[in-house]
Amino acid sequence: MTMNVLLTGGAGYIGSHTAIELLDMGHSVVIVDNFSNSKPEALNRIREITGKNFKFFEADVCDSAAMDKLFSENEIECVIHFAGLKAVGESCAIPVKYYRNNIDSTLTLLETMKKHGVNNFVFSSSATVYGDSDKMPLTEDMPTLTSGSPYGRTKLMIEQILTDACSADPELSVVLLRYFNPIGAHKSGRIGEDPSGIPNNLMPYISQVAVGKLPKLGIFGNDYPTPDGTCVRDYIHVVDLAKGHAKAIDYAASHKGAEAFNLGTGVGYSVLDIVNSFIKVNGIDLKYEFQPRRAGDIPECYSDPSKAERELGWKAERTIEDMCRDSWNWQKNNPNGLN
Ligand code: NAD
Ligand code: UFG
Repeated sequence: MTMNVLLTGGAGYIGSHTAIELLDMGHSVVIVDNFSNSKPEALNRIREITGKNFKFFEADVCDSAAMDKLFSENEIECVIHFAGLKAVGESCAIPVKYYRNNIDSTLTLLETMKKHGVNNFVFSSSATVYGDSDKMPLTEDMPTLTSGSPYGRTKLMIEQILTDACSADPELSVVLLRYFNPIGAHKSGRIGEDPSGIPNNLMPYISQVAVGKLPKLGIFGNDYPTPDGTCVRDYIHVVDLAKGHAKAIDYAASHKGAEAFNLGTGVGYSVLDIVNSFIKVNGIDLKYEFQPRRAGDIPECYSDPSKAERELGWKAERTIEDMCRDSWNWQKNNPNGLN
């Protein structure tokens, strides 16, 4: 069944890749974004890659009047809420802005959806809601924790708000997608992760060192209780993640209530595994040095993704080699990102 899907934050990294998957499958897409962390060029690239058009609204999702107008002018059947601020460190410096943006946008959407009779909601949550659990792999029934950053707490609070909204409204259907570590890019090399300023996350940092924009990678800690001493994460190709959203909108349309799913591969790779794979797959050199641990990092974090396979019919297919190859293909073809 094809649907008319609203993608908030659809000009961003995960939203743009999801837009491509949905358009390729024949869904209609409407995007709203305020470009607080993305560029209009992303929209041109989505059109170029898919050969399909979609409606775009430049607006803040916290703006009720703008959202009301959007829902009045479009027969939205499902909302995927990507829009949000996502930098862990920044969220400690400007927490109020993070709470205002991430929570207010969600509340505004819930109110507007109710008014317009839209019942299907997919939310970009994060593995961060598990806090620093020492049991791995993580399953959806494990307790969620409030340790971590204001960013992480916005995700946890939003999960709770959405769950409460479902308890009170038997028509509402919410899918909470707990992403692990998305990396990689569309195989065309025309869209990818385009962080502003110096990247916080591992793969964009590696790519920018490889392309010569940054002198060397600092590996934060090599004395963790992991096989090689560096932190272990569950990296997932962004295209696999995007495909998970296509399954999630089908699930939302045929279920009621709130349900959480891990979207990961179930395999943990260390920072050194990623660095070595990037060097090998792409045949390039990469300068790095070990540095002290980064505050807030946990030694290991990886998913049990079996619930998503069982109930959504989704499984990550792309390998770590695919992720490293596609990240580099994007970066080398767009050394300055999307301009
Ligand atoms: P991104 O910053 O590339 O995309 C988010 C988009 O939302 C941007 O285009 C930004 O301009 C837009 N936006 C933000 N606030 C807005 C608002 N109030 N109104 C309209 N547009 C707004 O981030 P991403 O990596 O694509 O992440 C998408 C979602 O997934 C976010 O909610 C993020 O917290 C979550 N997530 C990301 C990761 C990750 O590692 N990338 C991991 C777990 C969860
Ligand atoms: N790392 C380095 N050097 C860098 C950047 C990162 O060694 O320059 C290391 C980190 O210490 C960590 C690993 O690479 O061990 C991954 O770090 P990222 O910053 O790429 O990702 P995180 O696992 O810290 O966080 C990501 C998202 C968060 C989300 C979290 C859990 O950025 O938004 O996954 O889902 F909350």
